[in-house]
Amino acid sequence: MSRLAIILLLSLAVFEISAKLQNVTVKGIAVCNKRRVANAHIVLIDKDTLDPNDELAQIHTNKEGEFELFGEEDEIGKIEPYIRIHHNCNTQPGCERVSEYQIPQEKIGEVYDMTYVTLDIIVHGEKTKCN
Ligand SMILES: *[C@@H]1O[C@H](CO)[C@@H](O)[C@H](O)[C@H]1NC(C)=O
Repeated sequence: MSRLAIILLLSLAVFEISAKLQNVTVKGIAVCNKRRVANAHIVLIDKDTLDPNDELAQIHTNKEGEFELFGEEDEIGKIEPYIRIHHNCNTQPGCERVSEYQIPQEKIGEVYDMTYVTLDIIVHGEKTKCN
């Protein structure tokens, strides 16, 4: 075998070993002004260094403000999931806020229960969109 073929085979083997299927479950209850927020759009995303960010799952909160999302992905190294919530807590009419929440690394492969997600609180880096 040529040296190149050996190198290719070795790198494939390394990929096989280090890419593994990882999952996370995130749940919680969205609240605004101490009230549960129905129909907020929640997206579970994996922050990827190579690809554009991958959307793993999405859902709308139910009328009790509850949500539960499960996502899984094959990746080399640890996945870095976060959720993005589209909502209109304390916005002007016609506007929406987009708030993102990181999922702690130790919750990968487990359930991350955020309990109450207080949307009144402005999170770092959030955006407001108005049409
Ligand atoms: C999620 O990942 C954990 C840890 O790797 C594993 O034990 C569990 O079976 C997975 N759950 C599902 C539903 O795939």
